[in-house]
Amino acid sequence: MTELWERALAALQQRLGAEGMRHSLGVAGTAARLAEVYGVDVESARLAGLLHDWSKDASASELFAAADAHGIAVTDVDRAVPYLLHAPVAAAELRTAMPDLDDAVLAAVAAHTYGAESMSSLDLIVYVADTIEPGRVHAGVETLRDAVGTVSLDELFMLAYASSLRHLVDSRRRIHPATVTLWNRLVSEGSR
Ligand SMILES: [Fe+2]
Ligand SMILES: [Fe+2]
Repeated sequence: MTELWERALAALQQRLGAEGMRHSLGVAGTAARLAEVYGVDVESARLAGLLHDWSKDASASELFAAADAHGIAVTDVDRAVPYLLHAPVAAAELRTAMPDLDDAVLAAVAAHTYGAESMSSLDLIVYVADTIEPGRVHAGVETLRDAVGTVSLDELFMLAYASSLRHLVDSRRRIHPATVTLWNRLVSEGSR
């Protein structure tokens, strides 16, 4: 592992508890494997996977304060479900905490809750890895795991995103406007 990885790991251990660390290492390993399968930079994927939940344990008031400080848009859905902000807040805070991280790694961290308007392969990989890391047990997770390497990365992400959306609908939760925008874009691209 690289020196940057060692430093990131040590810093994260100061922030997350045992379950958070287990999940983060699970996402790191899964992201690295997906990167190998889909021809994306493995070390960037591993690092983005490790750090994606950097701000997961922040309280709602800390997330709102950080969003305000970093100019992150806060919608009604973020106000109702503040934890969604932990992704963009993590990216903003990591920029200061670990200045030698690539923009690509930060973008993947930022996009892991509701996606982004345009998503790189690294963004897609971190999102999917978060959904299918070995500790995840949600309905449909095995189907997603089995699809790795048998479908394109875009299709794999589409399957994972559809599964998250289905879960939001089934459990009658709010859907973030950015999620709706991204879903509509994916559908229109797929039907071109
Ligand atoms: Fe997260
Ligand atoms: Fe996560």
